[in-house]
Amino acid sequence: MKISVLTGAGISAESGIKTFRDSGGLWEDHDVMEVASIQGWHKNQSLVLDFYNKRRMQLKDVVPNLAHKALAELDKYHDVTIITQNVDDLHERGGSKNIIHLHGELNKVRSVATHRLVYDWDKDLQLGDMAEDGHQLRPHIVWFGEAVPMLDEAIPHIENSDKLIIIGTSMQVYPAAGLCGYAKEQSEIYYCDLDPQPNHELTRNKKLEILKGPATEQVPLLVERIKKEGFS
Ligand code: APR
Repeated sequence: MKISVLTGAGISAESGIKTFRDSGGLWEDHDVMEVASIQGWHKNQSLVLDFYNKRRMQLKDVVPNLAHKALAELDKYHDVTIITQNVDDLHERGGSKNIIHLHGELNKVRSVATHRLVYDWDKDLQLGDMAEDGHQLRPHIVWFGEAVPMLDEAIPHIENSDKLIIIGTSMQVYPAAGLCGYAKEQSEIYYCDLDPQPNHELTRNKKLEILKGPATEQVPLLVERIKKEGFS
């Protein structure tokens, strides 16, 4: 069975990574447009580099939680694709194999001039760190005001899935939030969230099941249910 899983910051919350809208819209005490927008980058590259350096370093202190691990377990029974808005590497470290990062990855950097020159990077990034094309390196993150290049790769997965599992996202940031609108009429949709706020794309789906509660409780329970279905 083909399953797509759309995750947001809420799946990493219990690993200790702050979500976006729970912290009153401030990201580590910064206005989001200062540190996560193309305008912010043009205004103050050092501030942006420092912000992502701090978030990249934080990855060394956090580990995947039971929700990440349960999704990796599901990989053993079904064709699972993780489509995440998160830039952390917890799905990879939790053992999932097929992962699409819609908003980029903290552990990657790229040339400011092209998406084609991308490098693994697990240390601080400074002004003067250059790509092989001679241009400054920048975080490989999709900032507000930029296109979401991986969207075209993600859509067919959702269109062809029998089940869509949505975990820990407020579903407020488009185009990612609109992905659930691509689910087949007959797909089963599960929306797991501490405080579920289904958007209109979601509420129009007849086979929607809301799983209210922490991801580390709800996701393992759901994975066990799906595993049992497989044998019925
Ligand atoms: N278990 C399950 N859900 C949780 C938990 C938890 N322990 N903790 C928080 N949540 C839920 C919240 O209720 C909320 O619905 O996770 C969601 C987090 O929402 P946001 O902070 O808006 O994060 P997200 O939806 O991933 O944001 C999407 O917006 O800011 C941009 O690029 C950024 O990728 C991000 C995008």
